[in-house]
Amino acid sequence: MIIAIIGGTGKEGKGLAYRWAKIGHQVIIGSREQEKAQRIASELNETYPNIKPLHGKQNLTAAQNADVVVITVPYSAHPAIVESIKSSVQGKIVIDVTVPLVPPKVSQVHIPASGSAAQEAQEMLGENVKVVSAFQNVSYEKLLEEADTLSDVLVCGNDSQAKQIVIDLISEAGMRGFDAGPIQNSIVSEGLTSVLININKKFGVHSAGIRIIGID
Ligand SMILES: NC(=O)c1ccc[n+]([C@@H]2O[C@H](COP(=O)([O-])OP(=O)(O)OC[C@H]3O[C@@H](n4cnc5c(N)ncnc54)[C@H](OP(=O)(O)O)[C@@H]3O)[C@@H](O)[C@H]2O)c1
Repeated sequence: MIIAIIGGTGKEGKGLAYRWAKIGHQVIIGSREQEKAQRIASELNETYPNIKPLHGKQNLTAAQNADVVVITVPYSAHPAIVESIKSSVQGKIVIDVTVPLVPPKVSQVHIPASGSAAQEAQEMLGENVKVVSAFQNVSYEKLLEEADTLSDVLVCGNDSQAKQIVIDLISEAGMRGFDAGPIQNSIVSEGLTSVLININKKFGVHSAGIRIIGID
């Protein structure tokens, strides 16, 4: 499977790229700048010599070349970035990791007009694109650790098959993914991030996560 990470030069994108390249997926780091994408891909290849080598491309080219496209950009950049890849993701799965945080008040839940960033992406991209929201509650620091992460992943979207593919990708990345319902429910996973930021502050840590209990 070829996975493109839009904004893959950033913290969360690098963490996900590492996890999937480690188990042998072909991952393309996407950036607004081709040179930056290639530089970050090379740096990661040097830091982690045992992963399947990453490639770096401009966001649109990265999305064109991928089967699954992952969006990891700040919320302020989300509308423009989603619009910029619209033509290249038709018929594909788009995993949206974006949290609608509004700096500097990132520990306060912000609910966008459409309900969630993932719903905004679905509305912008159209029904032919299977938008699945995931990973909002997994910190990049955990992703870059060697060990499996104990944090679970809530998976929201309107297409069951697409969600199962994402849950399998989550499992390959060393986490448990749970079908958390339709795309509307992404409001909860996105909002939970601000809750976790409060907990991080309170306990002086960076990577609080969530865990679903009651399941064998
Ligand atoms: N960091 C975490 O632990 C974490 C955890 C869960 C969810 N998230 C969510 O994942 C998304 C990405 O988080 P992050 O921490 O990886 O962000 P980040 O490092 O600040 O930025 C990610 C990338 O977004 C791209 N970008 C595109 N337009 C931009 C703009 N106008 N301003 C700045 N950057 C822009 C940049 O790539 P280019 O310059 O190469 O284009 C940048 O490297 C956010 O929505 C965040 O809330 C993050």
